[in-house]
Amino acid sequence: MRVMTFGNRGSEMTIRKTLSIFLTSGISLAIALAFVAGTVSISTSPAWAEDDASIARGGKLYDKWYKVIKADGPKENHPAWPASNTKKKGGVTHRCKSCHGWDGLGKDGAYASGSYKTGIKGVNGMIGADTAKIIAVMKDKTHGYAGKMDDKDYMDLAMFVSKGQVDMKKYIDYGAKKSKGNAAKGAAYYNTICAGCHGMKGELPKDMPKPLGGIGNPQEFIHKILNGQPGEPMPALLALDVSITADILAHIDTLPKEK
Ligand code: HEC
Ligand code: HEC
Repeated sequence: MRVMTFGNRGSEMTIRKTLSIFLTSGISLAIALAFVAGTVSISTSPAWAEDDASIARGGKLYDKWYKVIKADGPKENHPAWPASNTKKKGGVTHRCKSCHGWDGLGKDGAYASGSYKTGIKGVNGMIGADTAKIIAVMKDKTHGYAGKMDDKDYMDLAMFVSKGQVDMKKYIDYGAKKSKGNAAKGAAYYNTICAGCHGMKGELPKDMPKPLGGIGNPQEFIHKILNGQPGEPMPALLALDVSITADILAHIDTLPKEK
């Protein structure tokens, strides 16, 4: 669930429109700017834009914080990683998503079973929580992240936990492991936003062991399409409606599963 003020978006659109009307009608830029400055303040960017940038960066940190901050991945298991899970070891046990899930639901979500089963609760209980409270949790004894990142990193992570989580059960059929979105609608977005890097058939970049259509982790895909890929210039589609992400994923489900 994300909180957004659409009013802000609307008013920015109006400024752009006003400017372009002035410019196309041949009035000088200086006059146009003076007009805009006199009527509406354009000195600060709208709050939603900054929030979305912070949330998306937080989402990438939640995915793999040490890659985002270009630090070496920890070698030992995270102290809170349960001994009962011997399938995962080392750096991966320090990623937020490994304990709390791509869906933020922990033991009640996609990681209720499988190689990431830990029995740890989700972070969904902190949706809407004060960022200071969330930061305090990351720095507590259980987590031990104090001193590992800087203030902006903790704030972005907290923004993601508080405002960036989406109700994945609304968009994914957990039993079938498929998106509930509309593949035909998603194709247009995929072909124009994603195909430049991933190829029309999801076959790129070449070093991906499987094409996008063959990876089959819908929760991970929704998270990455919304927030981006750590350490890569992949866009974050957070500013678009989540249903578009689900539509893109439905289209990816129709792409080849093997290279
Ligand atoms: C190795 C496992 C592990 C990792 C990695 C981990 N956590 Fe946790 N987290 C826990 C456990 C265990 C709890 C529950 C602690 C408790 O109940 O006392 C918890 C609880 C939380 C809570 C409180 C949830 C609530 O509703 O009370 C938040 C928020 C949280 N973690 C955020 C994060 C963030 C952000 C990261 C990554 C920077 C992270 N965690 C990484 C194990 C982990
Ligand atoms: C600017 C280039 C770029 C664009 C545009 C882009 N991506 Fe990516 N994406 C990447 C790179 C690079 C990776 C990392 C690939 C790797 O691990 O080798 C990646 C990884 C991914 C992954 C994770 C794959 C895995 O290994 O689990 C998914 C899912 C994904 N992209 C989906 C998309 C979708 C959907 C779009 C369009 C909305 C998109 N990407 C747009 C560059 C891009």
